[in-house]
Amino acid sequence: MRVGILTGGGDCPGLNAVIRAVVRKGIDVYHYEILGIYEGWKGLIKEGLIRPLALSDVSGILHRGGTILRSSRTNPFKVENGVETIRTNLQKYNIEALIAVGGEDTLGVAARLSADGFNVIGVPKTIDNDVVGTDRTFGFDTALNIATEAIDRVHTTAEAHNRVMIVEVMGRHAGWIAIESGIAGGADIILIPEKITYVKNVCELIKRRHARGKDFSIVVVAEGAKIQMSPDSKKEEMVIQDKKLDAFGHVRLGGVGYKLADMIEKETGYEARVVVLGYIQRGGSPTAFDRVLATRFGVHAIDLINRGEYGNMVALHGTKIEPVALSNVINKIKTIDQELIDTAEVFFG
Ligand code: F6P
Repeated sequence: MRVGILTGGGDCPGLNAVIRAVVRKGIDVYHYEILGIYEGWKGLIKEGLIRPLALSDVSGILHRGGTILRSSRTNPFKVENGVETIRTNLQKYNIEALIAVGGEDTLGVAARLSADGFNVIGVPKTIDNDVVGTDRTFGFDTALNIATEAIDRVHTTAEAHNRVMIVEVMGRHAGWIAIESGIAGGADIILIPEKITYVKNVCELIKRRHARGKDFSIVVVAEGAKIQMSPDSKKEEMVIQDKKLDAFGHVRLGGVGYKLADMIEKETGYEARVVVLGYIQRGGSPTAFDRVLATRFGVHAIDLINRGEYGNMVALHGTKIEPVALSNVINKIKTIDQELIDTAEVFFG
């Protein structure tokens, strides 16, 4: 049997661990042929992007970030004859089953192809941890640890200069990195996309802290956070770096930290500085947790293929890896539960 594997959307640490696990168990145990499909869905549309993966191709990649298969944000439903071309290429290369490793967009395409009769298995990845149906996506733990270390480092310089330090982290629709790194790093305020934050309240919290004898503050803000000066000021703002949409209809976010710093300085008179972590959160070596989770996902994905249980995504439920129907995880975002928000708020100000 021939199995194809692709990685789509923004990269994240742990993708190579999934590829390695699929190839190792696929070849060693099931005696499948594994084909690498390069650059996400583009690899099934453009010529020359499908190549066999041998055991030697996945040797030494477990600890490496990025993806040996490369990635793209190509959306086949936005490409003329995209889906027909995919069908033709799957037949041409005799690919009977496909593993799509990706976030909400890639898994959305996988679900639609599955509904069209393709044999597809999804594997959830993203540093944003916002895929529904799984307790964790791999990549998140690495990003969380990078953000936490950044907050720790910023703490000492904030204290030395009596400054308000703002750390902007990724998180388009959900603030998982912001809230967990903020809790872990002892942030004084955390801003997330799940709720509008009034900057006046942030300033009150900072002033209260200063009145308690603290001369510095740490603010963690997710790139997708919505801010507004006060409940009665005009409109909420989400800071957009580039209004151009990608193939899945997303604008490029980034810069909310600078906006916030400006507002805080004007309102409180305290000096503010900004650190935007950006792609540093997505690059480099995965943590041990992400290597293990990604490896387990890869092994379970090839097992699902062996059992013919198509149309599923592998998911972490507690300590177990279980299948969930792709159709149940798409068109939704896993946002932060109230319990975590309440916990973080105990330490605000
Ligand atoms: O991987 C998810 C994510 O990190 C989002 O938080 C972010 O908005 C987006 O990717 C940016 O990725 P790119 O610039 O590669 O499209």
